[in-house]
Amino acid sequence: MNNRIGIIAGSLRKASFSKKLAKAVKDLQPEGFEFEIISLENLPIYNQDFDDFNEVPESYTEFRTKLKDIEGFIFITPEYNRSIPGVLKNAVDVGSRPAGKSVWDNKPAAVFSSSPGNISAFGANHHLRQCFVFLNLPTMQQPEVYIANVAEWFDDGGNIKSEENKKFLKSAVDAYAEWFSKLEGNK
Ligand SMILES: Cc1cc2nc3c(=O)[nH]c(=O)nc-3n(C[C@H](O)[C@H](O)[C@H](O)COP(=O)(O)O)c2cc1C
Repeated sequence: MNNRIGIIAGSLRKASFSKKLAKAVKDLQPEGFEFEIISLENLPIYNQDFDDFNEVPESYTEFRTKLKDIEGFIFITPEYNRSIPGVLKNAVDVGSRPAGKSVWDNKPAAVFSSSPGNISAFGANHHLRQCFVFLNLPTMQQPEVYIANVAEWFDDGGNIKSEENKKFLKSAVDAYAEWFSKLEGNK
């Protein structure tokens, strides 16, 4: 059976570069894997009362149910003010609760970060990794994936323009798939 991997882009923006990268990553799905883009639309800001008083929004239930069956994740984060955008942190929080029922626990993750600037969202990349320590998401260490000047990556159709960039992204996806398979084999 194929391993199901969720691709999560930390942006709601229609023309988001992170969403374009998510689509490009999905298209690079290696054999033996099923890559699926996970939408972060319609997730209200987390309020612990939802879980404590049994008032869980339908969108949370859908999100949590879907992610329960996903075996690993590739996160694609932009950077807001040197950290992760609120929409991504909110999704991480929603998936982590109720306590003891986290959808993230022990699922291999990769973090790819990008920015139109030249620091490549390094700050966001590492803030996300900090959350993953607590959430017990084993996270691929190498290769690190920092994408600078991402606005230059795509043509009008959302396709990656340069063969070199395509090759780079493919090598990162393949490294994740190989590392994931190694971890699964050790279970
Ligand atoms: C509130 C806000 C804060 C931002 N802060 C940063 C930042 O700290 N570092 C950075 O490289 N870009 C920053 N940017 C620019 C984003 O990298 C840029 O808007 C990017 O396109 C967002 O990702 P997206 O295309 O996936 O929506 C910021 C943008 C916004 C709206």
